[in-house]
Amino acid sequence: MICRILLSLSSCVFGSFVVNVTQTSYQAEENHNITLEWTFTVETGRSPTYLIIYCELSEQSISVLDYVRDGAEVSESQDEKFSGRVQSDRDALREGRIRLQLCRLRTEDSGQYRCQVNTDYGFSSASCRLNVTAAADQRSTSPPQEEREDWKNILIVLTAAALVLALLCCALYFGSC
Ligand SMILES: *[C@@H]1O[C@H](CO)[C@@H](O)[C@H](O)[C@H]1NC(C)=O
Ligand SMILES: *[C@@H]1O[C@H](CO)[C@@H](O)[C@H](O)[C@H]1NC(C)=O
Ligand SMILES: *[C@@H]1O[C@H](CO)[C@@H](O)[C@H](O)[C@H]1NC(C)=O
Repeated sequence: MICRILLSLSSCVFGSFVVNVTQTSYQAEENHNITLEWTFTVETGRSPTYLIIYCELSEQSISVLDYVRDGAEVSESQDEKFSGRVQSDRDALREGRIRLQLCRLRTEDSGQYRCQVNTDYGFSSASCRLNVTAAADQRSTSPPQEEREDWKNILIVLTAAALVLALLCCALYFGSC
């Protein structure tokens, strides 16, 4: 009975609050940057007394944006592996947009990203997928490296040949004396 009351109460109060993703999946390459974006309901003509946004990558917290509108209090906590690689646009929050920029992407950043929004007029969450593929330039830089190895080998052979020749000349010269 209490549950039913709470459920109907929450659907009544929080029913109109939504969090959307602007894109359900993103594709990016290693070392590049990407901006993941969410939108949430903002009430026109009314500032929320609090707005807490919590974003995570499959149970690893990436960024907690604890944003209190009136006190302008901002605190942030971050998983070590995202340290210095996440930037959030605080101005966009006012318009109901969460913009999380991830810098210098790694292949292990791939996964499900979920952002939960809590305000005094509702809470909700939404997820999107990020797929980070290995950098293509790692494959294209290998042939020049091999070429350089070839030149090194040729140089070694030429030096060795010159040495042998020099030794032979010496032997002939001194041998004839
Ligand atoms: C990624 O973002 C960083 C910091 O904002 C910037 O310095 C860098 O040029 C960006 N790299 C790319 C590939 O956009
Ligand atoms: C969320 O998506 C629904 C359906 O596309 C749309 O009607 C609604 O306006 C969106 N809300 C926000 C806050 O983006
Ligand atoms: C990630 O992208 C690669 C290259 O486009 C694709 O082959 C792979 O299936 C994608 N993986 C997921 C989980 O979407």
